[in-house]
This record gives sequence, structure tokens and C-alpha cells, in this order.
Amino acid sequence: MNHTIFRNLLAMVLFAAALTLIVSGCTRPRKDYQPEQPFGFSHYLHAGQHEIACQYCHTSPAMGRHSSVPSLDICMNCHSMVSTDKPMIQELRKAYDEGRKIEWTKVHDLPDFVYFDHQPHVAAFRTQEGNDKPGQIQGVCANCHGQVNTMEKVSTQNEFNMGWCVNCHRENFAPTNCTTCHR
Ligand code: HEC
Ligand code: HEC
Ligand code: HEC
Ligand code: HEC
Ligand code: HEC
Repeated sequence: MNHTIFRNLLAMVLFAAALTLIVSGCTRPRKDYQPEQPFGFSHYLHAGQHEIACQYCHTSPAMGRHSSVPSLDICMNCHSMVSTDKPMIQELRKAYDEGRKIEWTKVHDLPDFVYFDHQPHVAAFRTQEGNDKPGQIQGVCANCHGQVNTMEKVSTQNEFNMGWCVNCHRENFAPTNCTTCHR
């Protein structure tokens, strides 16, 4: 074996060991976090039973860096007509008319030193079998968020820590150098 190859191999082994150490040291589990919400919104009812597409309410995951949680305007697109006799919808209407917001509690919230972008992920998983049809984005989101369309209340379905990100990047030949996620 020539020396250059050996040195490169050694460097690779050391780097892998360092990465493993860092990854195992950064295990901060976030799975099954399910905070209380200020208002009883059901994904099961909307995205499951009524099959409203994820991107109707979360307009940006496919395009931008951040996803978004819908404002009351989006709710009122339907609820100015749908179920207006129900007490909860009257509560929504009242908040809307008074210009108030619903302060949803964040379920997923990575530290600021982590760079995450929905766009390349949505683009990559769009090419998976069954996910390539327009409007069918649930399968794309499920890679990380699980079957949200079956949930009454959203909870985290994965660890959402560094080990989780890096493992999936390795499996999918996505970049694993530190500056991918720390910029
Ligand atoms: C009718 C509107 C609507 C539809 C359709 C919808 N959502 Fe939501 N989503 C919301 C609202 C409102 C919240 C904030 C309250 C909550 O967490 O339940 C939310 C929260 C979330 C969160 C948690 C955000 C956080 O704080 O981290 C995820 C993840 C999510 N939705 C994914 C999905 C997926 C995947 C689909 C499609 C299967 C979907 N949503 C369809 C309205 C919607
Ligand atoms: C694309 C249409 C659509 C949008 C947008 C939508 N909803 Fe709904 N919502 C429905 C339908 C349909 C039902 C079920 C009505 C039924 O079964 O009688 C429903 C039911 C509900 C109910 C249950 C009412 C009851 O007591 O029976 C609540 C609460 C609710 N929606 C809240 C929201 C909130 C909050 C938003 C915005 C984040 C929202 N909805 C956005 C269509 C929509
Ligand atoms: C590769 C994994 C992955 C996929 C695929 C994914 N998400 Fe996320 N999502 C995340 C992570 C990580 C966060 C937390 C981001 C943060 O805290 O900075 C997040 C946060 C969110 C939030 C909270 C608001 C925000 O942007 O911080 C919503 C809503 C959401 N995702 C919806 C969706 C929807 C809808 C889809 C499908 C179109 C989807 N996500 C696909 C990993 C993913
Ligand atoms: C379910 C698998 C999966 C998970 C989990 C995942 N990623 Fe990714 N990530 C990918 C894939 C696939 C790509 C696309 C690579 C490509 O475009 O060739 C990607 C691309 C990226 C990119 C863009 C890289 C570039 O320069 O093109 C960033 C940034 C990123 N991921 C950050 C994260 C972070 C931060 C997390 C954890 C919070 C995470 N990812 C979790 C699979 C995943
Ligand atoms: C694919 C995305 C990704 C890559 C690549 C990545 N990290 Fe991280 N890193 C994260 C995420 C997500 C967290 C947040 C973990 C948490 O808060 O649980 C994190 C946290 C950290 C922390 C803080 C540890 C702690 O306990 O809060 C350090 C230090 C760190 N990473 C260093 C590195 C180094 C060095 C590399 C390169 C060898 C690297 N990261 C590569 C996603 C990544």
C-alpha cells in the first residue's frame, strides 16, 4: 500500500470516528413531543377525512426555506361558510373579526445555529414512487413528520437531532460536511 493512500485512509477513519463521537454526543431526543395547543385543530379531520392537501395550509414547504402555519384568513376561506353553527367556528369567526391571531405552540423548533431548508428535501422526495403526482405531497412530508393526516394533535415522529439528520444524509448520499447544516 502506498503512503498517500494510507494517509488518506487514516484521515478518513479518524474523521469518521470524530463524526460518530460528535453525533452520539449530540443526541437530544425530541421524539413524541406533543405540546398543548390553544385551539382544538384536527389534522385528522381536515387532511385525513376531508383530504385537504397539506400545501393548501402550509403554502411554503415546496418553495421556500420555511414552512408556515396558516393564518386565520386561510381558515376563513372555508369557515365563513362551513360549520358556522358550531361553537368552535363561532369562536374562530370572533377572533378573526377582532383581528386576533391564534398563537399556535411550535411543535418542531431547532436551535438557530442549525440551517434547515424544506425546499431541497421536498424536491428530493418528490421523485419517490407515488409522490410524483401533483397535489400528493403527504408522502413527502411523511418522511420526517409521519402520517400527520391521521393525527388529532401533531407530535414529533422522529428525534429531530443531529444524528437523525446525518443518518438520513448518509443513506441518501446527501452532503454530510459540517457546513451543510452549520453556516
Ligand atoms: C386546514 C389547514 C391545514 C392542513 C390541510 C394541514 N395543516 Fe398542518 N397545521 C395546521 C395548523 C393550524 C397547525 C398549527 C396547530 C397544530 O400544530 O396542530 C399545523 C401544524 C402542522 C405541523 C407542526 C408545526 C410545528 O409547530 O412544528 C406540521 C408538521 C404539519 N402541520 C404538517 C402537515 C401535513 C404533513 C399536512 C398534510 C398531511 C398538513 N399539515 C395539513 C393547518 C393545516
Ligand atoms: C378547505 C376548507 C377548510 C379550511 C381551509 C379549514 N377548514 Fe376547518 N373544517 C372544514 C370542514 C369540511 C370541516 C368539517 C365540517 C363537518 O364535518 O361538518 C371542518 C371542521 C372544523 C372544525 C370542527 C368544527 C366542529 O365543532 O364540528 C374546527 C374546529 C375547524 N374546522 C377549524 C379550522 C381551523 C382553525 C382552520 C384554519 C387553520 C380550518 N378549520 C381551516 C374545512 C376547512
Ligand atoms: C427532511 C425532513 C422534512 C421533510 C421531508 C418535511 N419537513 Fe417540515 N420540518 C422539518 C424540520 C427539521 C422542521 C423544523 C425546522 C426548524 O425548527 O427550523 C420542520 C418544520 C415544519 C413546520 C413548522 C414551521 C417551520 O417551518 O418551522 C411545518 C408546518 C412543516 N415542517 C410542514 C411540513 C410539510 C407540510 C411538509 C411536506 C410538504 C414537510 N414539512 C416536510 C423537517 C421536514
Ligand atoms: C429523511 C431523510 C433526511 C433527513 C431526516 C434530513 N435530510 Fe437533509 N437532505 C436529504 C436529502 C435527500 C437531501 C437532498 C440532497 C440533494 O439534493 O442531492 C438533503 C439536503 C439537505 C440540505 C441541502 C444540502 C445542499 O447543500 O444541497 C440541507 C441544508 C439539509 N439537507 C439539512 C438537513 C438538516 C439540518 C436535517 C435535520 C434537521 C436534515 N437535513 C434531515 C435527506 C434528509
Ligand atoms: C445534516 C445536518 C448536520 C450536519 C451535516 C452536521 N450537523 Fe451538527 N447539528 C445538527 C443539528 C440538527 C443539531 C442540533 C442538535 C440538537 O439540538 O439536538 C446539531 C448540533 C451540533 C452541535 C451542538 C451540540 C449540542 O449538544 O447542542 C455541534 C457542536 C455540532 N452540531 C457540530 C457539528 C460538526 C463538527 C459537524 C461536522 C462533522 C456537524 N455538526 C454536522 C445537524 C447537522
